Amino acid sequence: MTNFIECIAPSNIALVKYWGKKDIQIPQNPSLSFTLSESVTRTKVLFEKGKGNTEFLFEGKHAPNFETKISTFRTLWENKYPSLKNYDLKIESQNSFPHSAGIASSASSMASLSLCFSELLKNEGILDLDKNSFLENASSFARLGSGSACRSLYGGVVTWGQWREGTSDEYATEIPELSKKWSSWGDAILLVSSKEKPVSSRQGHALMMDHPYAESRFSNARNRLTELYKVMLEEDLLKFCEIVETEALELHGLMMNSNPSFILMKPESLAIIEKVRAFRIETKIPACFTLDAGPNIHLLYPLEKKAEIKDFVNNELSPLLEEGKWIDDKVGMGPEVFGAK
Ligand code: DP6
Repeated sequence: MTNFIECIAPSNIALVKYWGKKDIQIPQNPSLSFTLSESVTRTKVLFEKGKGNTEFLFEGKHAPNFETKISTFRTLWENKYPSLKNYDLKIESQNSFPHSAGIASSASSMASLSLCFSELLKNEGILDLDKNSFLENASSFARLGSGSACRSLYGGVVTWGQWREGTSDEYATEIPELSKKWSSWGDAILLVSSKEKPVSSRQGHALMMDHPYAESRFSNARNRLTELYKVMLEEDLLKFCEIVETEALELHGLMMNSNPSFILMKPESLAIIEKVRAFRIETKIPACFTLDAGPNIHLLYPLEKKAEIKDFVNNELSPLLEEGKWIDDKVGMGPEVFGAK
């Protein structure tokens, strides 16, 4: 095969979390995230006219678990664009971060795959949309692969879920007025554990169905999003830190209150949380933590304070990290397409 499309899509970190869904991957509440820059998936799709075969290589090797997911994803596209059935595809994917780092890769991988499929269909004259609709369509397909992936189609500050004009439950949109103000933020991803999680995000979402706090959670998240938006617009950094931390702890509180209950934080996660709060009080640097559905901590901070944060991580947090590892990430510009041929 000589024709190919290659793209990279970044991971993202939610500040207001998507936790609970209905219908076909429709979020119970709107979410808001920073798109990252260094934690990315690079996907290359080689294609030629053929019988509709799919071959998938993850980091150079066949990965049967992923293959099923990719085939299901391909079928979704074929349902809307039947001509895709006339192509053989060889898909090669790799992450910039170690597979075992315990970093969620579904967002970056489904986003990069969705973008590659969109570009392929555009190149072959099957898809003809203006730039905005093209991205909305790609974001909407990424959502079907993994909810949070739909936010990775855009750079900066991104929202998914209906709350203000131009937002949608089906795809994400950038919030340009916030991207402008928040593009210089760092995310030190502190790796606490790379072990497989006892409960997947998918299972966690399902447990929100008859969660005792479901209704109050969904309305809290909605209100928190409006509050966070305002605080981010005003650049009230300390209030920003408070809201982001409350939201992360609420997510983990919901897990503890689920039936069955589960805990994804580790003792080290909690120790880091306490140290981050003490650091903020002591130094007055507006750095705060958030967590995804896992034990790792994302330490968010203004990049101008990078030297202080590096010292803090290396001197105080490093012993709490798995092999002292952390990823030096920051807010990024969104996905890139290159090497289309
Ligand atoms: C806690 O997007 O991984 O990271 O749609 O089932 O694939 P699926 O779930 P996923 O859930 C992400 C949950 C979260 C919050 C967030 O990113 O908004």
